[in-house]
Amino acid sequence: MTNAPSYADAYGDWMRDPAAYWAEEAAGITWTKPWEKIFDPSMGAFGQWFPGGELNTCYNCLDRHVEAGRGEQAALIYDSPMAGTVRTFSYAEMLDRTARLAGALAALGVTKGDRVIIYMPMVPEAAIAMLATARLGAVHSVVFGGFAAAELSTRIADAKPKVIVSASCGLEPGRVVRYKPLLDAAIAMSPHQPDACLILQRPQALADLQPGRDYDFDTAVAEAVPHGCVPVLATDPLYVLYTSGTTGKPKGVVRDNGGHAVVLWNSMKMIYGLKAGDVWWTASDVGWVVGHSYIVYAPLMKGCTSVMYEGKPVGTPDAGAFWRVIAQHKVKILFTAPTAMRAIKQQDPEGALTHGYDLSSLEALYLAGERCDPPTGVWAFELLGKPVVDHWWQTETGWPITAGFLQFGLFPFKPGSGGRPCPGYDLHVLDDEGNVLPSGSTGNLCLRLPLPPGCGPTLWQDDENYRRSYLSDFPGWYRTGDAGMVDTDGDVWVMGRTDDIINVAGHRLSTGSMEEVLASHKDVAECAVIGAKDELKGQTPMGFVVLKAGVSRPEADIARELVALVRERIGPVAAFKDARVVARLPKTRSGKILRASIRKIADGENAPVPPTIEDPTALDELRTLFGG
Ligand code: COA
Ligand code: AMP
Repeated sequence: MTNAPSYADAYGDWMRDPAAYWAEEAAGITWTKPWEKIFDPSMGAFGQWFPGGELNTCYNCLDRHVEAGRGEQAALIYDSPMAGTVRTFSYAEMLDRTARLAGALAALGVTKGDRVIIYMPMVPEAAIAMLATARLGAVHSVVFGGFAAAELSTRIADAKPKVIVSASCGLEPGRVVRYKPLLDAAIAMSPHQPDACLILQRPQALADLQPGRDYDFDTAVAEAVPHGCVPVLATDPLYVLYTSGTTGKPKGVVRDNGGHAVVLWNSMKMIYGLKAGDVWWTASDVGWVVGHSYIVYAPLMKGCTSVMYEGKPVGTPDAGAFWRVIAQHKVKILFTAPTAMRAIKQQDPEGALTHGYDLSSLEALYLAGERCDPPTGVWAFELLGKPVVDHWWQTETGWPITAGFLQFGLFPFKPGSGGRPCPGYDLHVLDDEGNVLPSGSTGNLCLRLPLPPGCGPTLWQDDENYRRSYLSDFPGWYRTGDAGMVDTDGDVWVMGRTDDIINVAGHRLSTGSMEEVLASHKDVAECAVIGAKDELKGQTPMGFVVLKAGVSRPEADIARELVALVRERIGPVAAFKDARVVARLPKTRSGKILRASIRKIADGENAPVPPTIEDPTALDELRTLFGG
């Protein structure tokens, strides 16, 4: 409840009467038509929130602040050490640009329910494209710039966009990434063709435009007639965000409009303690869920100023970059991934580069995307002298499952723990048979249905896959895919995935999709990819391949080809740099590859010989490889 004095009160309020709790939370959103019910359990895979209600998400992010007289306040600060630019956009300016881009998209035929793919670097136009799509009641799907053409193509084929909004290039340290050739290749590979592409020309590398299909972004916006907000149902999709599943095919997580607006608006105060006008910085990318929720939608819904940073924690120009941004823009809360802190710690362990920057505006550091290892959490806490809050969530939920709550006062600092469940989540640890385990036991972290508002209600046009992936293992529960435990204080410890997903530099990747790429190499008979421990990135993928009989080419050549193939098919974000040829892979008698044993050996851990192993000596070669 908005004014609840303590976490226990708020959580208790929700538990006692979820409908009353969510009705009160929903009051922070401007609805064009009130909902008919708070929740309808008969709709969708587990029920739907606020059915019958109508709203427009873009209106809640922009128009209403301007109408309330706050048009001159900064909405977005674009800070790009890559481009050497800092630019502030007021709410009035964001609204004008968004309404015009919506007009340009409408002129290209985009209407309510149509999909728009956004494949862009961290430029303000990416946020504006998301908001413009939402303004039309259309559905965006943002694709992270570090994915290769084939990954983009899969998403084009699945989402079937009417229009694609892209840019001529992205800027990575030391190189300009030309997006347009990747986009052209992706469209050429896709069975679905968009009607049009809007291309933002960046001066660092201009793109060739294909007449009749490609349009210059700036010209289209300049010539467009501003478009108003199209109301949509609370249950209509706002976006589809593809994320790694256990197979090569990514999952299109759907986000609806109503529940999403309600929980994000509320989270800004409850979790992060922010009010309109506060400056907030999420150092992530709009291509990830964290970027959707906390670079664009939540801060703007709340009327905050959101910093959009096109740069890295280190090397742009140095490990003091984050401290410079905090001081320059008077950031109150920084939200980033632990890997960013590890990168800074590695280069500037004493924090010498904080000197000279006034960090007094900073109230707390929030971390997510992967578990924050305790040494890094403690280092950041000691360096900044501010609370460090690790909080756990996933693309599917769209907002934190567990957190520390600035509105209620933070829990005592427990490095390694992800905080306590947000009101709305009934979290328990289950054993593999679905029994609820007592506190202190490790098992499957599961959420009792229904999931709260904001959580993905389905996968894009694939209810069946949603049920199979998340709801079928433990009837009545949503399986998060994470393992962990809840301690006697109620603090949650998320210890790792129970499936083949790995987390590399806060990026979620599927080892299954990398294995599909390795298996497609002409010389490979079988393969396994695991996530090995990495000092900087948390995990790093490592591939093991067995060659087909008779292949006599140098192993080093094949390994190089495999590394190049993963980069070409999945993209640089996979960070796949290590492929090794082995004589055989350890397997169970039924033929299942023992990936956990391989991972333990690669990590230098004790890897007991599993009783189901077909041939115990199969582990010996790996032990030798890793000097064990
Ligand atoms: N477009 C194109 N390429 C991209 C890209 C993008 N948007 N983002 C990353 N890449 C490339 C990088 O240039 C790198 O390429 P390389 O192999 O040629 O060096 C590769 O993908 C791997 O990138 P990354 O894993 O990010 O490693 P890095 O060495 O460039 O940077 C960190 C390491 C820790 C600085 C960086 O990962 C980081 O800032 N992480 C924060 C993570 C984050 O924001 N996660 C979001 C969830 S909260
Ligand atoms: P993504 O969908 O890309 O946000 O990745 C979600 C996954 O990242 C989760 O299922 C976890 O495995 C991991 N994750 C995210 N945040 C945390 C955290 N704070 N602690 C532990 N794991 C996390």
